[in-house]
Amino acid sequence: MKTIFSGIQPSGIITLGNYLGAMKHFVPLQDEYNCYYCIVDQHAITVPQDPATLRENVRRLAALYLAVGLDPEKVTLFIQSEVPAHAKLGWIMLCTAYVGELERMTQYKDKSKDRGESIPAGLLAYPPLMAADILLYGTDYVPVGEDQKQHIELTRDLAERFNNRYGEIFTIPEIRVAEVGARIMSLQDGTKKMSKSDPNQGSYISMLDDADTVAKKIKRAQTDSDNAVRFDREKKPAISNLMTIYSLCSGKSLEEIEEMYAGKGYGVFKSELAEVVIETLKPIQERYNDLFQSQKLDDILTAGAEKANRAANAMLHKVESAMGMTRL
Ligand code: TYM
Repeated sequence: MKTIFSGIQPSGIITLGNYLGAMKHFVPLQDEYNCYYCIVDQHAITVPQDPATLRENVRRLAALYLAVGLDPEKVTLFIQSEVPAHAKLGWIMLCTAYVGELERMTQYKDKSKDRGESIPAGLLAYPPLMAADILLYGTDYVPVGEDQKQHIELTRDLAERFNNRYGEIFTIPEIRVAEVGARIMSLQDGTKKMSKSDPNQGSYISMLDDADTVAKKIKRAQTDSDNAVRFDREKKPAISNLMTIYSLCSGKSLEEIEEMYAGKGYGVFKSELAEVVIETLKPIQERYNDLFQSQKLDDILTAGAEKANRAANAMLHKVESAMGMTRL
């Protein structure tokens, strides 16, 4: 069985973009692959976190992973910091990387902008830790949204560089980007990614937003100048984004949606889109609420950490032996 690895940061809100670009695709993979899904709290601390909030956000994300349909009997769900091999291999990957290539990462450039002397060093070291996450499990495929492409390419470069030096230790992973929805855009700007760090809360839908909030946000979402529900990423980015969301939540194709709303205008389309999104979130939120306080959630995370530790330690041992970091 081939192996899948993916991770999500427990940094507060999990958006509809996270769901449609990544989490939703994790679910069918569990039937075909050996899947590791991780709550990457060590990536979250590359920017300051409040301890109580971080603890809560880790639990929220764990509950959400299960609520979207992951089966703990099939997948390994775990918290990154509970598997120390991630930090250890992260250091080795950092030592394998060059400062120049890390400084070229677009996410680093975006996040370090205007910080002067105070750029957290963790932001620069972030991609090697991500490489470690992936490489520890002999991962074949990494399902992620489009914004992670550059990080996966770096992971492949680091794995090859390491293998050239020390022998064929790492599997070279491949990215898996969804055909539709790999880049869900902001509701307020169809040319910008939907992001939880956007200060304008109207720009994203949280997986935990209630029905009224979802309806309001969609009602206020940006549209394009004419009143036609037609898919055209270039000329009509805002409506095309809303149509993508509609399509992924309803299972209807973009052509079907165009036909359904021909001559009807944005108002009708938006109110029905709101219904479709609310119906998608409702069962997930119900399962989430049951899981959040449950002992079952802790048991699943404990079992996940045990399983992940076993696999990760075996790989770390291979790596350290190859490098001479074991005793004579
Ligand atoms: P994160 O936490 O920012 O996002 C989690 C997943 O959601 C996808 N995503 C989107 N997809 C479509 N449209 C959007 N607007 C959108 N916003 C986010 C992301 O591409 C991602 O798949 N560095 C990673 C976490 C990570 C990781 C890993 C991922 C750490 N180690 C190893 C894969 C493998 C991140 O910050 O994702």
